Amino acid sequence: MSVLAYESNDYSSMTLKVPSLADLSSLEDDLSYSLYRESCYDLEGIIYRKVKEWVTKDPTLAPSLLRLQYHDCVVRGCDASILLDHEGSEKTSNMSKSLRGFEVIDDIKAEIEKKCPKTVSCADILTTVARDATVLAGGPYWMIPYGRKDGRVSLAKEASIVPKGSESVTNLIEFFQSKGLNVLDLVILSGAHTIGKTTCESVQHRLYDYKGTKKPDPSLDPKYLNYLRRKCRWASENVNLDGETPNTFDTQYYHNLKKNMGLLSTDQMLYSDSRTKPIADGLSFQSSLFKNQFGVAMVKLSSILDVVSQDEGEIRTDCKYVNH
Ligand code: HEM
Repeated sequence: MSVLAYESNDYSSMTLKVPSLADLSSLEDDLSYSLYRESCYDLEGIIYRKVKEWVTKDPTLAPSLLRLQYHDCVVRGCDASILLDHEGSEKTSNMSKSLRGFEVIDDIKAEIEKKCPKTVSCADILTTVARDATVLAGGPYWMIPYGRKDGRVSLAKEASIVPKGSESVTNLIEFFQSKGLNVLDLVILSGAHTIGKTTCESVQHRLYDYKGTKKPDPSLDPKYLNYLRRKCRWASENVNLDGETPNTFDTQYYHNLKKNMGLLSTDQMLYSDSRTKPIADGLSFQSSLFKNQFGVAMVKLSSILDVVSQDEGEIRTDCKYVNH
């Protein structure tokens, strides 16, 4: 565990205890950094080249691929249950309707099945794709331990537990805690909203009649509010999560919170709660701390394993369907 002092004067007296990858050593019981070293030698090269090809054609895929990983891992662990495509699966839930990038995973899986048949799980592929998408958006690189199994169960109703953007900070903390993630992980992983978009549907409740007050959310900067009202005439429109540097993986997300320009109310509220505000403040000043810790937190997120689904899991040959 390393202890880093905030550099800013305002926070000079504060320290933030942040874990390193070495502190996550318990992961090694289930997952291994060397799993595919012999069985699928060029796995990471194949995946990176493919993700790059897709993201070069359509840069908006990078955030979508990162988000897929989050939605997979917080429901039944990282078991690629989000990819199963059948009636009543997580993917068909209302909560999943704005998820994108499934075709990228299918394309990569097909390529890997040619080179290393029946060897690499869709869950491991998804995790690697999320990392590479982050790197291609200018974010950090992190090492990935492998060995996730693909689950055989995927239920739409289970996807409804994923927070939608209007929850309280306490709800978010409790949700993250139930997945083995702490407050630091919450604030750091929320920084993923430095890239990507939301549908206006997720923010409209803030624009006119916030919590039945007939007024907008008072924590929205007035100019930003005007911009959002113009931009979000229809619920189906899209708006950048980071209004300042939407395509770059940087600390601007945290600066936006200070200026009342957090787009989702769950983003902005991180800056009004004493449990999360000091962390958001500290990260805004320290780009390399944010990037390093984002990698550490992603390893934690992508190592959430549901013991049952791991034991009963398989290596799917097609990510959309369980094996017959
Ligand atoms: C803290 C709780 C979180 C909430 C409440 C939340 C909520 C949301 C919402 C409402 C959207 C927009 C959906 C729409 O199109 O309507 C979104 C997008 C996104 N989320 Fe989150 N999220 C959370 C955590 C995370 C985490 C942990 C990650 C990744 C590590 C993540 C990555 C993303 C990305 C990259 C996008 C943009 C996707 C795109 O452009 O296609 N989110 N999130």
